[in-house]
Amino acid sequence: MKHRGIIFLLAGVLAALAIGWFVFPLALYRTEPQPIGFNHAVHTGEQNSMTCDMCHEFAEDGRFKGIPVVAKCAECHSTAIGTTDVEKRLVEEYITPGKEIPWMVYSRQPDNAYFSHATHVTRGKMPCEECHGPHGSSTTLPSFQVNRISGYSRDVWGRDISGIPSEPWQGMKMDRCVNCHADRNKVDGCVACHK
Ligand code: HEC
Ligand code: HEC
Ligand code: HEC
Ligand code: HEC
Ligand code: HEC
Repeated sequence: MKHRGIIFLLAGVLAALAIGWFVFPLALYRTEPQPIGFNHAVHTGEQNSMTCDMCHEFAEDGRFKGIPVVAKCAECHSTAIGTTDVEKRLVEEYITPGKEIPWMVYSRQPDNAYFSHATHVTRGKMPCEECHGPHGSSTTLPSFQVNRISGYSRDVWGRDISGIPSEPWQGMKMDRCVNCHADRNKVDGCVACHK
């Protein structure tokens, strides 16, 4: 009898762990498709050696322009230059009709948090990889997942369900902003980041 009790207990514990690690994330996050594929490495790798700022520009007033508009792509892809299906779709569905691509932004912060690339990249001289990891040299887009409760991208919290990042660049929750600032002797009031 005693043994059976322990076996049931263990089975229960294992089932709870399995729910926590595998079922809970499935229930918590909804995956949404990106509108079209994008391969950074084709552009930024040895073959074409484009620099990040050729697409991710800063405006004259210092403002970061984010993901490039479709007119930027049209500079090279007004007609297809390769033979891939994805490029054919890009030209037919977006470039020719002049329609913007509704990209999902992995790192999008809640509206009440204020972040400026000019402060960090232009003034602070931080490399993109410090916060975004290897996205700029990736060949495929990661799946885009939305937290069903908060509505935020999973990448803000970090991919690891434990909340402990397996790579230093994973996740951009408030504690990461605050910790980096503290490491660099920058102590701010709440309103520095919350407007
Ligand atoms: C040919 C234009 C082009 C170049 C060059 C380019 N990017 Fe991008 N970048 C894009 C497009 C289009 C997207 C939107 C699709 C995506 O998320 O990858 C994007 C998205 C991103 C994102 C995702 C932001 C988010 O949170 O959703 C990061 C990070 C990024 N680029 C970093 C880089 C870095 C770093 C480099 C240089 C090594 C670079 N990019 C060079 C076009 C470009
Ligand atoms: C400076 C020129 C240049 C710009 C600007 C540019 N590309 Fe490209 N792109 C290339 C080249 C070169 C290739 C390689 C073509 C080949 O050999 O297939 C390529 C390939 C591609 C492909 C097909 C290859 C693959 O594996 O996915 C897609 C899709 C693509 N680009 C999307 C974009 C988008 C979206 C933008 C705008 C954000 C953009 N490109 C901006 C030069 C450019
Ligand atoms: C100190 C950390 C940090 C650095 C360094 C950094 N980023 Fe970001 N990036 C962020 C955060 C945080 C966001 C989300 C901003 C928001 O939602 O307002 C973001 C958003 C983006 C986006 C999406 C913008 C949008 O809303 O459309 C792109 C593209 C991007 N970053 C590219 C880059 C590139 C390219 C570099 C290097 C030139 C870079 N980032 C450097 C933290 C950083
Ligand atoms: C990797 C380190 C790092 C990370 C991560 C980081 N920051 Fe910063 N941040 C800095 C540094 C360094 C400065 C000061 C730059 C300078 O003035 O040269 C700064 C400046 C700022 C400022 C300007 C404050 C002022 O006094 O002008 C704001 C606002 C800010 N960060 C918000 C954020 C937010 C929001 C996040 C997270 C989404 C974030 N930062 C993540 C390093 C970081
Ligand atoms: C260095 C930037 C920074 C500072 C300073 C900062 N925050 Fe935040 N805070 C953020 C970012 C980025 C988020 C969104 C990411 C997250 O939820 O962790 C956030 C999220 C929050 C949230 C959760 C809101 C939500 O929608 O999930 C609360 C509450 C909050 N902050 C309160 C505070 C208070 C109170 C202070 C002052 C003691 C403070 N913050 C200082 C960057 C900052």
